[in-house]
Amino acid sequence: MPSRRPLIAGNWKMNGSESFVRAFCGAIARAQIPAGVSVLLLPPAGYLAQAVQVLGDCGVECGAQNVHAAPSGAYTGELAAEMVKDLGGRWLMVGHSERREYCAESDELVAEKFQAALRAGLHPILCVGETLAQRQDGNAERVVGAQVHAVADLVGASAFASATLAYEPVWAIGTGQTATPDEAQAMHAFVRAQLAQIAPDQAPVMRILYGGSMNADNARGLLAQPDIDGGLVGGASLEVAQFLEIVRMGADLVSG
Ligand code: PGA
Repeated sequence: MPSRRPLIAGNWKMNGSESFVRAFCGAIARAQIPAGVSVLLLPPAGYLAQAVQVLGDCGVECGAQNVHAAPSGAYTGELAAEMVKDLGGRWLMVGHSERREYCAESDELVAEKFQAALRAGLHPILCVGETLAQRQDGNAERVVGAQVHAVADLVGASAFASATLAYEPVWAIGTGQTATPDEAQAMHAFVRAQLAQIAPDQAPVMRILYGGSMNADNARGLLAQPDIDGGLVGGASLEVAQFLEIVRMGADLVSG
């Protein structure tokens, strides 16, 4: 069995406040994070430095939810990958479906942001996923395959092999309607098959997270699937007790 250390990531989206960060990250720092699982928080960029500082040396890392593709310049209101690193971030999520939809981010732009993450020395997490209409039209694999290949085409196979993927069916995000473990596993296996075309040696050890209404009630069944290596948790990552429960389920994968 290839060894893929489970990763549970919390995507806070545009939620939180100074006092929320202090309380949440304080509770995480005091919690006993089980061995064998990695934990990552993606707070709004304005709270990144605070989150990093409160988490201290507890082993939980932070990252950003988005950046501009350019390293610097006249892009009012934007954030560069180098700045994420300056703020203490180690990770960068790119291609979240909310950005693809609300900010019209194309596969090519997502690939440029992925490249910006690599240039800054950040670990990229590439989000992919199909809409309900695309799934109903039988296009889920075509859409997700194109999202994966657009990035690999720009950065090359060897750089791509350092990525973490997150499969997030758009119809499951924030809807409470999670993919069933079988539905999710089928798409994860498809994504891994795409990775195998791009980076055959690395595909067996690349992590593919599931995201879309994952919570403490459904995480165990999803995480038990052979190609699901962790979770990208939105709503349920805003409740520290529930988030830690999912983290423990991730750890159980290793010990059980
Ligand atoms: P959700 O969000 O868990 O609230 O569905 C997941 C995500 O968008 O990353």
